Amino acid sequence: MKYRTIGADPQTRREVSVLALGAMLFGSVTDERTSFAVLDRYVEAGGTFIDTSDNYAFWTDGGQGGQSEELLGRWRRSRGVGDEIVVATKLGARPLAPGTSYVDNPEGLSAKVIREAADRSRERLGTERLDLLYAHIDDHTVPQRETVEGFAALVAEGTVGLLGASNQAVWRVERARALAAAAGLPGYEVLQYAHSYLRPRTDVPEDLFPDGSLGHAGAEMASYLRAEPALTLVAYSPLLKGAYTRPDRLPRDFDHPGTPARLAVLREIADETGATVNQVVLAWQLGHELPIVPLVGVSSVAQLEENLAAVDLELSAEQRARLDGAH
Ligand SMILES: NC(=O)c1ccc[n+]([C@@H]2O[C@H](COP(=O)([O-])OP(=O)(O)OC[C@H]3O[C@@H](n4cnc5c(N)ncnc54)[C@H](OP(=O)(O)O)[C@@H]3O)[C@@H](O)[C@H]2O)c1
Repeated sequence: MKYRTIGADPQTRREVSVLALGAMLFGSVTDERTSFAVLDRYVEAGGTFIDTSDNYAFWTDGGQGGQSEELLGRWRRSRGVGDEIVVATKLGARPLAPGTSYVDNPEGLSAKVIREAADRSRERLGTERLDLLYAHIDDHTVPQRETVEGFAALVAEGTVGLLGASNQAVWRVERARALAAAAGLPGYEVLQYAHSYLRPRTDVPEDLFPDGSLGHAGAEMASYLRAEPALTLVAYSPLLKGAYTRPDRLPRDFDHPGTPARLAVLREIADETGATVNQVVLAWQLGHELPIVPLVGVSSVAQLEENLAAVDLELSAEQRARLDGAH
């Protein structure tokens, strides 16, 4: 395994493995036995960065979520997992009632929600402190200063380590960080967005979040990351939910002429290196000029093994140039 630092402040920054593991479907779609086996193997391989949310996976049973955090709590207790593993969670997108969704009925980002939801996450995860807490989606109904102060209060109390944001428009992240900096408060340092080798169209309406923002890290995010070296991009759905091996899963916004061109180069590099297409995608992200941490989901130990091996796959500068140049 290899490691990198998230966060800039020497007081709060953490070392994490370069490959993060998503626990979104653990405890719902993925049964406990398999989830524990995947978590154990990830840690055995040196993995130290696990991702969940207070709303995972509400859509699988029409509830409000929490199964993933609860499973991680049981796993931590049964394995005696401590500070060495960074578990990130999120709040803001939990549906307020069963049968609803973050689209029409999210908990949002008021100071009250931030405090109460974080407490409930700590309880489910069985931990005194959340290592990294993200705003899962944006909330335009609450003054942004209230959200910034609400998160900062938890850091000041020591119940949260690092802060992050997900799925918000880049200008909103920058505004929140500016508000925090001006007030001498901690701000978002880890940004979690969808990112993979294939690039989506950005004008497909059904893929917008409720506030109209895009969950995809595109050119604007890349420019932001270049300007702010203290930030890290955690790339969710790096394997496009399995679509590289099962093309029928490719979402509609990837249906454009750039996709076959990039897929052709990807297959070429996979043939040359003897790696799988999924491994080439992950290696491309891992060796990227921008600080990208791929956040993979898996439903078996075999998938995890394949993905872990990508950490040791080095692409040559010429191979990277070919991958970057395909469009
Ligand atoms: N911030 C957000 O809004 C947000 C949104 C989505 C996800 N996330 C986070 O990101 C994590 C990963 O997201 P994701 O599950 O969408 O990511 P992903 O890694 O793109 O997709 C995971 C799925 O891809 C397939 N897969 C993985 N490795 C494979 C392999 N080696 N060979 C063949 N198929 C493979 C599996 O599908 P099968 O199980 O069907 O085989 C697996 O469930 C989540 O767990 C969650 O923590 C965050």
